[in-house]
Amino acid sequence: MRKKIIAGNWKMNKNFEEGLALASEVVNMVKDEYQGGAHVVLIPPFTHIAAISKLISDTQNVSSGAQNCSNHASGAYTGEISTEMLKSIGATYVIIGHSERRQYFGEHNDWLAQKVNAVLGSGLNPIYCCGETLEERESNSHFSILETQIKDGLFHLDDNQMKQVVIAYEPVWAIGTGKTASTAQAQEVHAFIRGLISAKYGNELAAQITIQYGGSVKAENAAELFAAPDIDGALVGGAALQSRSFVDIIKAMP
Ligand code: PGA
Repeated sequence: MRKKIIAGNWKMNKNFEEGLALASEVVNMVKDEYQGGAHVVLIPPFTHIAAISKLISDTQNVSSGAQNCSNHASGAYTGEISTEMLKSIGATYVIIGHSERRQYFGEHNDWLAQKVNAVLGSGLNPIYCCGETLEERESNSHFSILETQIKDGLFHLDDNQMKQVVIAYEPVWAIGTGKTASTAQAQEVHAFIRGLISAKYGNELAAQITIQYGGSVKAENAAELFAAPDIDGALVGGAALQSRSFVDIIKAMP
C-alpha cells in the first residue's frame, strides 16, 4: 500500500512563537486522538523549521518540510536557501512548484526540474505541485497543461528518483477560494496523473506514488476525497493554520 500523507502548508503565516504553539498542539492532538496510518508533514516558513523539527523529533509519523528551495547547491545567491541547509535543520520534504511560486515568482517547469534534482540530491522528498487555472479548465486544456507540468518537471528522473517524489494536484481555482474540486473531478485528474506515470515508469512504480489533493480541503470534505482510489492525502493551506481543523482532516484518513 502506498504512503498516505497529510501536509500542512502554512504559507507566509504565523510568527515564530505562534508557529511553535501550533506545531506542539498538532503533535499532542495527533498523539492523543489519531490511530490511523497517515504520515503528517508540517511545512512552516523557513524561520521555524529548525525549532519545529526538534519539537517533533520523537514523534513517529510527523515530519517537517519547507515551502521552497534554491535550485543551486551553494554560492552567491543572496536570499536563497539550499536543500543541504534544509536537511541540516531536519526538514525531510520540500514543496516544489506551488502555483503561488509559479504565478507570483515566475517559476517555470525547467527551473522546477532543477529544484526537484536539488531536493533529491540531498536525500529529501519533493512534493511536486501541478494544477490548472480556471481558464484552462473551462477551455478543456487542463489535461494537456497537467501533462506538460508533470513531464517537464519530473520525467527526466530515473526510477529510483521517481519513487521519492510526492505529487500534489492543486487546481489553482480551488486554492484559498473555498471552492473544492468535486471528488469526481479530483479522482479523474489523479487517475490521469497516475496513468502518465504508468506509461513512462510502469504500473508497479505508478502504484507506489503518493498523489495528494490540495485546494480548500477541510474536515467536511476530507473523508469523501480520501475515499477515492487515487487520492492519497492532502496538501492543506488555510485549514492547517488551526490545530483543530488540521487534525480533523488528518483524522479523516483511516
Ligand atoms: P488552501 O491551500 O487549502 O488554503 O486552498 C492549499 C495550498 O495552496 O496548498
